[in-house]
Amino acid sequence: MLLPKLVCFAFVSLAFGQLKHVAAEETIAACPTNFTRVADKCLLLDDSWKNFFESDRHCRSINAGLLSLKNQTELNAITNWLAEIAPNQPEVWTSGNKLGQARNDYFWQSTGEQAVYLPWNTGQPTPASGDCLALLAHVSMSTGQVVMDPHRLTVKNCTQWAAHICQAPLQLFKTQLCLNTSAFFEAKIPV
Ligand SMILES: *[C@@H]1O[C@H](CO)[C@@H](O)[C@H](O)[C@H]1NC(C)=O
Ligand SMILES: *[C@@H]1O[C@H](CO)[C@@H](O)[C@H](O)[C@H]1NC(C)=O
Ligand SMILES: *[C@@H]1O[C@H](CO)[C@@H](O)[C@H](O)[C@H]1NC(C)=O
Ligand SMILES: *[C@@H]1O[C@H](CO)[C@@H](O)[C@H](O)[C@H]1NC(C)=O
Repeated sequence: MLLPKLVCFAFVSLAFGQLKHVAAEETIAACPTNFTRVADKCLLLDDSWKNFFESDRHCRSINAGLLSLKNQTELNAITNWLAEIAPNQPEVWTSGNKLGQARNDYFWQSTGEQAVYLPWNTGQPTPASGDCLALLAHVSMSTGQVVMDPHRLTVKNCTQWAAHICQAPLQLFKTQLCLNTSAFFEAKIPV
């Protein structure tokens, strides 16, 4: 509801010219409902099995896109988060793919950007095995314990199933001191 906010803001500005300046100072960042802040973005893990296209559609249906990767710092934050919330989830779809590309260039479908940072798993990429990119963690047994390596990119057939991660941008808010209209009319303004 932008209009009431603007009206309110105008009233506050008129009545308390001094306050407006102070009140508009603080900016806070928040994530949409059900998303978690990880590095500079908001993430949501869906661990139901879907193919790449179904996963992409699911993210779009909640005003998000499939995961893209920017750099090592961000990947570390993502893998730490995954290890915390889903310690047994070895494979998730990203938005990375080379669908419709003659060359082996990968793009992040959610941002439209060509993928520059591509942290491959050992032995990857294997372009012949598919057109889409998943984050895969190799799982092994060590002294009777299941050990999961950090997630890295792996080429996968887009029609196969995996969990997926949706990403949404951080929402920025400015906090403002605001009076409602009835409170405004009741206020005594010093002259
Ligand atoms: C958040 O998740 C719950 C449980 O899955 C769901 O019922 C609810 O609709 C979700 N909220 C939004 C805004 O997507
Ligand atoms: C990675 O990206 C984040 C978010 O844009 C940025 O703040 C950070 O400086 C980058 N780190 C490196 C090592 O490039
Ligand atoms: C992906 O899997 C489908 C179904 O098994 C198959 O028809 C298709 O050729 C595969 N695509 C690639 C690129 O391997
Ligand atoms: C506005 O503030 C007054 C005084 O606190 C309160 O009684 C009234 O319910 C508020 N109106 C709305 C629409 O929030």
